[in-house]
Amino acid sequence: MSKENLPPVWNRVGKHGVFPEANHDEIARYNFLANLNRYLATVVSPGNKIAYEKRVRPKFQAERDRDFETREEVREAMKKDPHYQAWSALRRSSMEMRQQAGRSLVLHQANELAEKAERLNQGKDTLKLNPDLEIPHYVRVVDHHCMPGSYYTELMEGDVTAAANYDSGLFVTTTGLLGRMNDGGGRAISQWLKTEHPEFQPKRILDIGCGLGHNVVPIAQAYPDAEVIAIDVAAPMLRYGHARAQDLGVNNITFIQMDGANSGFADRSFDWIQTTMFLHETSSKSLHRIGKEIYRMLKPGGLTLHIEQPQYSEDMELYEQFIRDWDAYYNNEPFWSKMHDIDVKELLTKAGFKEEAFIQIAVKAANDIAEGQQAEKTVEDYGRSPIWNVFGAWK
Ligand SMILES: C[S@@+](CC[C@H](N)C(=O)[O-])C[C@H]1O[C@@H](n2cnc3c(N)ncnc32)[C@H](O)[C@@H]1O
Repeated sequence: MSKENLPPVWNRVGKHGVFPEANHDEIARYNFLANLNRYLATVVSPGNKIAYEKRVRPKFQAERDRDFETREEVREAMKKDPHYQAWSALRRSSMEMRQQAGRSLVLHQANELAEKAERLNQGKDTLKLNPDLEIPHYVRVVDHHCMPGSYYTELMEGDVTAAANYDSGLFVTTTGLLGRMNDGGGRAISQWLKTEHPEFQPKRILDIGCGLGHNVVPIAQAYPDAEVIAIDVAAPMLRYGHARAQDLGVNNITFIQMDGANSGFADRSFDWIQTTMFLHETSSKSLHRIGKEIYRMLKPGGLTLHIEQPQYSEDMELYEQFIRDWDAYYNNEPFWSKMHDIDVKELLTKAGFKEEAFIQIAVKAANDIAEGQQAEKTVEDYGRSPIWNVFGAWK
């Protein structure tokens, strides 16, 4: 792996008032795992394509007298290839190790983290938790991306460990490609909106499935006069997210524990409704309900935007569909394949939007973490395609 392809060191990650402390060994572990992930992505994974082209596909063609027709056929054949098996096992193991590294980092400081969050949250009416909220079944039964207890589990009163683990270790999974504050998506979409639609001045913005607020914070910063509401079902994410935003001096976001499929906001009450890397972690039923809710809650002339990985379209090579689908099988993302298979234009038109109001864009993300290099090196400069695939519609 060449020097310029190495990931930045973990110390470059942006810190804030609730960020967990890390000692020498914990930092070394995160750095090792980020390097392992970058190595797997840039050196080992390309071998999968070679295995496909040189061994797996020719064998299938010779046996069946035809080419692959579905990504499932590609998967069945690739599963038997030793290179793919080795890469897949290493990738799963690196994810398990990343989660264990994150859990061991945050658990021994669970009390301190809860106290730090409480100090920043107390007395503020911009954090509204609802202990009676029913956690959706699809969240309850899955440890998303191998994260023990997923987003919502609370081990003690005021627990924020799930969020602190997610925040400190996201850098490992993404090898720093989301930027210092893991906010590349939110920064990219608000820059795009300001450049392309300077006349659009949203007064009320809703972010559904906000997590700990990585991508809603830059949106609130881009529109400081707007009232921003960020909702999530998981209390640990909201407690930590609210404290983090307060510490970063971002005071125009209210974090509320709510289900996006049934939030109860008034009809036509938002100018912009955003989701970022959220829809693929829902379910078919919830996704369609959320679509209808978004239409109902948007004001006429309002906008909804959704940052997701690209959909599996006919234009996408079967090999690419297959390799992207790895997360569905081995990274505890049970809705991943279904979500990326649906016709998102149809999803929004069924929700009420006009077909001609649909938009699909690829937004280029700036990355501010590249160590010792140009501060604004882009994701594409690292040899990756733009990751910010966005769809949505005007009402
Ligand atoms: C991948 S995280 C989202 C990350 C976040 N949007 C960001 O930009 O950093 C998915 C989040 O969706 C939340 N979630 C899942 N289903 C939900 C629902 N129906 N309503 C609100 N939040 C939900 C989870 O608790 C989790 O925090």
